Amino acid sequence: DRSIKIAPSILSADFANFGQEIQAIEAQGADWVHVDVMDGHFVPNLTFGPALCKAIRPHIKTVMDVHLMISPVDPYIDAYAQAGADVLTAHLEAGPHTHRTLQAIRAAGCKAGLALNPGTPVEAAAPLLGLCDLVCVMTVNPGFGGQSFIHSQVDQVRRLRALIGDRPVHIEIDGGVDPSTAPAVVAAGANVLVAGSAVFRGGSVADPAPYGTNMRAI
Ligand code: DX5
Ligand code: ZN
Repeated sequence: DRSIKIAPSILSADFANFGQEIQAIEAQGADWVHVDVMDGHFVPNLTFGPALCKAIRPHIKTVMDVHLMISPVDPYIDAYAQAGADVLTAHLEAGPHTHRTLQAIRAAGCKAGLALNPGTPVEAAAPLLGLCDLVCVMTVNPGFGGQSFIHSQVDQVRRLRALIGDRPVHIEIDGGVDPSTAPAVVAAGANVLVAGSAVFRGGSVADPAPYGTNMRAI
């Protein structure tokens, strides 16, 4: 299913109000809910753990898309699976045994995602595509919301789409996605659009209309 999916990142939401924030973005048409897990080691920022994922799970009616920016990954896979992750995405750069990690994610009952930093050629994913339900091409260096889209990643998305061919693998893009940057990556073959700051303008859901309009524009 290569229809375009919008996956708002709650990294840019009001952290004191996740239940209402999730309800609001789903009412505005979010297809997936993207949860950015950072460990202060693989990336220079700290965010959520499995307990937070478990707490927000009942509020998510769509898909919980968990992006693990952590290293190591394997010791935590079961915890995020038990917290209710539908998609569990690990970075190729997080360790030497990504093949094993992807196998473990599927064994835990989740869809397996593979994320690639901007400095990693997408061709590095080729041997792993049979184990992937999704490949996430980072269009910023991971760690923070609100960064500028790296335009050279559009060509990487195009090459990845060609590598994937007919396989049922989503291409997700993450970072700096907004109505001005999305069209080129969609044309290049991306079909899951993560968007944090473009969706949660101002970081509050007091009035969902402004970012709802933005979301459909993406
Ligand atoms: C970056 C995260 C992204 C981020 C996107 O490390 O993986 O999901 O929240 O935020 P924006 O859309 O503001 O770049
Ligand atoms: Zn992310």
